[in-house]
Amino acid sequence: MKFALYTNNQQIQINRTVMKNSKSNKDKSIATMFDGSYRSEAKPADFESFDESAKLHVKYILENKSKSVLDVGMGAGGIMMVLQDKGVERLIGVELSHEGIDLAKRRFEAFGDISKVSFFEGSYLDFPPETVDAVSLHQVLHCHPDFQAMIKKTLESAPKIIINTMPRRTWYMMLFLGIVSTFTILVSKGFRAYVHSPDEVKDILSEFGYERVSIEKSFIWETSLFRSKQNIEM
Ligand SMILES: C[S@@+](CC[C@H](N)C(=O)[O-])C[C@H]1O[C@@H](n2cnc3c(N)ncnc32)[C@H](O)[C@@H]1O
Repeated sequence: MKFALYTNNQQIQINRTVMKNSKSNKDKSIATMFDGSYRSEAKPADFESFDESAKLHVKYILENKSKSVLDVGMGAGGIMMVLQDKGVERLIGVELSHEGIDLAKRRFEAFGDISKVSFFEGSYLDFPPETVDAVSLHQVLHCHPDFQAMIKKTLESAPKIIINTMPRRTWYMMLFLGIVSTFTILVSKGFRAYVHSPDEVKDILSEFGYERVSIEKSFIWETSLFRSKQNIEM
């Protein structure tokens, strides 16, 4: 089902409704892991307190003049709130955590324009595709075992740009996330973090016509901007 099939009035109703999908056990373990961190009071987004990688996502989206953005694993919607403030017209947030969706909704109701935002509660892999200018995956891929399917899913939105931040594939990140995962598997109903290969992400997107035009690394994270070659050539 595409949101675009609805008239304006119907679309607003859809926007106010959170679309939900049933969750697999894997999805439930991810949601359970993050639910607790989103149980809080609604506050405006504070760009200055963002991770450097989140700031890069905002920068790339604005520099590329994206008017519609899909934020995969949007958490409490902080990046989307800043983007709306900066004039991005259409925002779609996909999130497994019910508490994350709830907090993001409350924040947009209090400090933004919720009529221009859609939410999908469920796995990104179940999201009914919608065309957007940009897809943002900020610190999400390491939560999911099937990162290949997640990254291929972005292609359904035919975005001009894709921005992805994931853990660097270094020995210390493998060691660190291995230790963290041993703990979370036991106490958080099966959640574990993965150190997938950023180069494999690049190879998959390259196969489908996207070129990596920027890469920034911190000690922990790696942020890549991919641009559709069609768009580069235009
Ligand atoms: C580390 S948090 C990052 C949140 C947000 N992107 C940010 O930067 O603040 C990862 C988020 O991705 C969500 N997530 C993980 N896998 C997902 C999936 N397959 N579909 C939708 N959301 C997912 C988790 O529920 C969690 O809220």
